[in-house]
Amino acid sequence: MDIFKITGPVRLEGEITVGGSKNSALPIIAASLLTAGKSTLRGIPNLSDIAVMCKLLEDMGCKTVADNGDIAIDATTIYKPIGDYEIVRKMRASICILGPLLARCGKVEVSMPGGCAIGYRPVDIHLRGLQELGAKIELRNGYICATANGGLKGANIFLGGAFGSSVLATANVLCAATLARGKTVIEYASCEPEITDLANCLVKMGAKITGIGSPQLIINGVKELKPVEHTVIPDRIEAGTFMAAAAITKGNLKIKNCRTDHLMAVINKLRSINIAVEETQDGCEVCSSGNIEPTDITTLPYPGFPTDLQAQFMAVLCLAKGNSIITEKIFPDRFMHVAELSRMAANLRKEGPHIIISGVEKLIAAPVMASDLRASAALVVAALAAHGETIVNRVYHIDRGYEKIEEKLNAVGAKIQRQSV
Ligand code: UD1
Repeated sequence: MDIFKITGPVRLEGEITVGGSKNSALPIIAASLLTAGKSTLRGIPNLSDIAVMCKLLEDMGCKTVADNGDIAIDATTIYKPIGDYEIVRKMRASICILGPLLARCGKVEVSMPGGCAIGYRPVDIHLRGLQELGAKIELRNGYICATANGGLKGANIFLGGAFGSSVLATANVLCAATLARGKTVIEYASCEPEITDLANCLVKMGAKITGIGSPQLIINGVKELKPVEHTVIPDRIEAGTFMAAAAITKGNLKIKNCRTDHLMAVINKLRSINIAVEETQDGCEVCSSGNIEPTDITTLPYPGFPTDLQAQFMAVLCLAKGNSIITEKIFPDRFMHVAELSRMAANLRKEGPHIIISGVEKLIAAPVMASDLRASAALVVAALAAHGETIVNRVYHIDRGYEKIEEKLNAVGAKIQRQSV
């Protein structure tokens, strides 16, 4: 198991380049199952989550070849439309094979995803949406077993849940509807850029979709889709993490391959806490004087502030000059990082889905435990500014979603050492 030894405080300065979006790549790789042929996906980050998704496809008979950011997927043969427990338990996003396989094969079995560190994560919206398209669904031996004898049929579907829209439920129902008979209207679709990217990719495959980017998606089913070549969008969460790293280190980072239009809520928040953000030709420049103003942040579905950047911005606000409050409205229990940041001398108090942050003069290095992907990114961000040597344990969580994060940050002034223990 690897650990990071991070020496701080440092000041980050220079150019840093964002990779392709993990959360776009995962449902788009799954969508390649909709067509019997060879697709090529580009800009795919080299991450353990991507490897898990490719393993899932190979396990059912597809061939995948990864080469320097490209993945060639031959989905000609699917001999068992099954997402096995042993693979699915490694990554919840495996659920996004459900819609594509149901539409292509008329049946699918996917292991029901289990619990996870960021709280209870049900899949009822996925199942409800697919049932409305005519699927029969039952739970057997821990597997979601869905069949669509006679094919799927278009329907008007309200896809909202208790916490708003669902990103991967939208992906599943959208993929399934592309091959359903007739017209499907999805109301309360997720508007996340990753869903827009998926929809654009499906259109290239021959799907008929309008309303892309809005909460109402209209899909006119087609008989078949064709293989595709598609480049995924840059990862807005990796970009936002680098912005937080610049902010907390009094840094000056030119962030390249960054879609600022996908990060409006984040850029707006940075400016309001006294961090300068200038747009550049292919990204932005983030400049911090170190005088961080306190603020309030509420996580919301896109275009609101993303839950996947909540932890990293909590780290930044630990050093603000005053009291801030963070409210988590997507995953109300997503606060595993609070105890770890407190070990680094942050002053945090939890009140239900709110964290009250009293800014401190400095953070102090400590051994800390990564608990999930974004929480561990927050610990890295905090460690860059903390005094002394922070040890981040269980770095494999970070490797799920950040490609070579230590190399990228070291190139702009961080002191991060990876060690196998
Ligand atoms: C995706 C992202 C994840 C991000 C999340 C919210 C991927 C691979 N993952 O996860 O990084 O944090 O969006 O932006 O893209 N819900 C239900 N029933 C369901 C499905 C969801 O109640 O059937 C709830 C969830 O518990 C949560 C909210 O809806 O409270 C939003 O979750 P959702 O958008 O589905 O998250 P994911 O798509 O799993």
